[in-house]
Amino acid sequence: TQVRVLGVPMDLGADRRGVDMGPSAIRYGGLADQLASAGIDCIDGGDIAVPRPEESDPDAGGLPSGRAKFFRETKEVCEDVATAVDATLMDGQFPLVLGGDHSIGIGTIVGAARDDEELGVIWFDAHGDFNTPETTPSGNIHGMSLAAVLGDGAFADHDWAHTPAVREENVVLVGLRDVDDGERRRLYESDVTAFTMSDIDTRGAPEVVAEALEIATDGTDGIHVSLDLDWLDPTEAPGVGTPVRGGVSYREAHIAMEYVAEYHDQLRSMEMVEVNPILDEHNRTAELACELVASAFGKRVL
Ligand code: ARG
Ligand code: MN
Ligand code: MN
Ligand code: MN
Repeated sequence: TQVRVLGVPMDLGADRRGVDMGPSAIRYGGLADQLASAGIDCIDGGDIAVPRPEESDPDAGGLPSGRAKFFRETKEVCEDVATAVDATLMDGQFPLVLGGDHSIGIGTIVGAARDDEELGVIWFDAHGDFNTPETTPSGNIHGMSLAAVLGDGAFADHDWAHTPAVREENVVLVGLRDVDDGERRRLYESDVTAFTMSDIDTRGAPEVVAEALEIATDGTDGIHVSLDLDWLDPTEAPGVGTPVRGGVSYREAHIAMEYVAEYHDQLRSMEMVEVNPILDEHNRTAELACELVASAFGKRVL
């Protein structure tokens, strides 16, 4: 397969933190070379246009209830992302989306989903991203994207966000350590599987990731892997929008991606999000993102 890289320089969903520079940082970090070292050919599909937060009114959008800043703009960007991801798949290529804040996951998943098929999702993240416009403490859509694709809360009326192809039973969160009260309640009530960092501490990353892959592939026609770089410990990945202590190690992240590579027949799309070069140390977080992509595409030491 040929990989098509799609950049989404989006920072509307994360309070202007600098993650709009993520796609450039990841390209500079050696993405094409890392993919080549995994034996994967890639072409660059360029960036999707994203409005600047300074030029938009965060509350201009039309939501029935709650708050979701830059709702209208986020909707438009996600629709464009979905179109680009869908077109990539139609061309027989693999969509690799570079963020940008995690709100773009809505676009990627909607674009990867097919009406007549089931799509599993693995969401590697410190956060649940399971708030709705009603439960969000921040109003930032990057903390709501997983809830949006499941059609929860105020997102229920929006078919740009909700994809019936994704069932809660096939959605798995891995690496949680920062969950808001409202989203904790919602996670308990849902059929989504959530593995916290405590699960990884006690059971080990390989076992947890193996189970996550089983759940996401169980009865589905493909899986989407969404990797928020804040899943890793900030000592390894300091350049992210919202760092949280106590994340997975460098080696745990690689073994997880090597396990993902074992499912390459089912892997339909992937995204690397929340890279923030402004907080980084010499672009090491973006370079790590490139390494992890290579592992997910089958790069091995021997
Ligand atoms: N839970 C917080 C919120 O809703 C933080 C979310 C962080 N999400 C992310 N994709 N980094 O605002
Ligand atoms: Mn996230
Ligand atoms: Mn996160
Ligand atoms: Mn649904």
